[in-house]
Amino acid sequence: MSKENTNSKEQLKQVQKDLALTVEELSDVYEEISILYHISQSFSGLTIDDICNKLLDEVAINLDVKTVSILLLDEERPEAYTAVSTGKWAPDKVIAKGDNIIWHAIERNKPQVFCDINNTPHKKICPDLQAIMVCPLTGKKKKVGVILTGEKTSGEEFFASDSKFLMAIASQAALAIENAYLHQELEGFFFGTVMAFVKAIESRSHWTSGHSERVTRYALAIAHQMNMDRSFIERLRICGLLHDIGKIATPIEILDKRGELDDNELIEVEQHPLTGSSILSELKQFRDITDGIRYHHEKWDGNGVHEKLKGTEIPVMARIISVADAFDAMTSDRPYRKKLSFEKALNELIVHSGKQFDPDIVDAFMQVKDALFL
Ligand SMILES: [Fe+2]
Ligand SMILES: [Fe+2]
Repeated sequence: MSKENTNSKEQLKQVQKDLALTVEELSDVYEEISILYHISQSFSGLTIDDICNKLLDEVAINLDVKTVSILLLDEERPEAYTAVSTGKWAPDKVIAKGDNIIWHAIERNKPQVFCDINNTPHKKICPDLQAIMVCPLTGKKKKVGVILTGEKTSGEEFFASDSKFLMAIASQAALAIENAYLHQELEGFFFGTVMAFVKAIESRSHWTSGHSERVTRYALAIAHQMNMDRSFIERLRICGLLHDIGKIATPIEILDKRGELDDNELIEVEQHPLTGSSILSELKQFRDITDGIRYHHEKWDGNGVHEKLKGTEIPVMARIISVADAFDAMTSDRPYRKKLSFEKALNELIVHSGKQFDPDIVDAFMQVKDALFL
């Protein structure tokens, strides 16, 4: 074989080897990217607690470590508190702002990696650990906390690839936590507004005081029993609190009237589901809440007041409110009648199951009644 041929064969072998290495590296990078993509997707829409728990699991699995702790910054105090932890990090540990590795990571906005923390002035932070990595959780606009990890199952120290991975997952998690905080703030604001509405409704007549909150409590218990999802339950909570908001337009003399209502007064009161849904009709993203309000006096057999919807034509939110509402109305004093006992009111629900009420919802209420009134 000529020398030229041998050289080109060797060159080819080298190219093949390089190519195999590149492919291997690419496949590692691809795997890392797809893990990160999968993790960042799985964070969306979660609460802060759920994000922290998920982050802890992902770090423990992907870095193969026994100790992981997620610390979040206290909004009011210069402290980082442990939100979740596993392994050798105490679950209630709070780290005050100061000269320590947690706050170095936060303030320098850089990961801190130690092969043996016991040979540094920071050994007190977690005396049972040797190799430690601390990575800041920094969102788009604010710092939210840190991830601390240690104790690789293999007993090895951390490599540059480990801190790179931790940084990548930390930035995804920090964005998710920042969004969840924002969502929480907006929710608080929204809920505050809803409660102001509730007070406005109930302050008009002492006869209905506490009604919206009790209806909400019963409705939520029914929805849990029916395994409705979290988003439905959150919207049902608002619907329960606001279901009688339309009564804000009902004359107080009618609300407080002792004795039977005449036909005109009855028509006036019966307007409240329509008035209520029209007040809230601007909240387009809460369409099912306004429908829940609009149809909460429809009847399962189609003999309701307004649109005479029948059976499952009535939105399920309205059907749940209907049972909860009727039960609270029957078990509360009204200016024109005394309240019924719980037993009698429960019996009324059974008597009217399949007529006024969705039988499945009456069944669900019967399942949870003991837990509600114990
Ligand atoms: Fe009502
Ligand atoms: Fe009501």
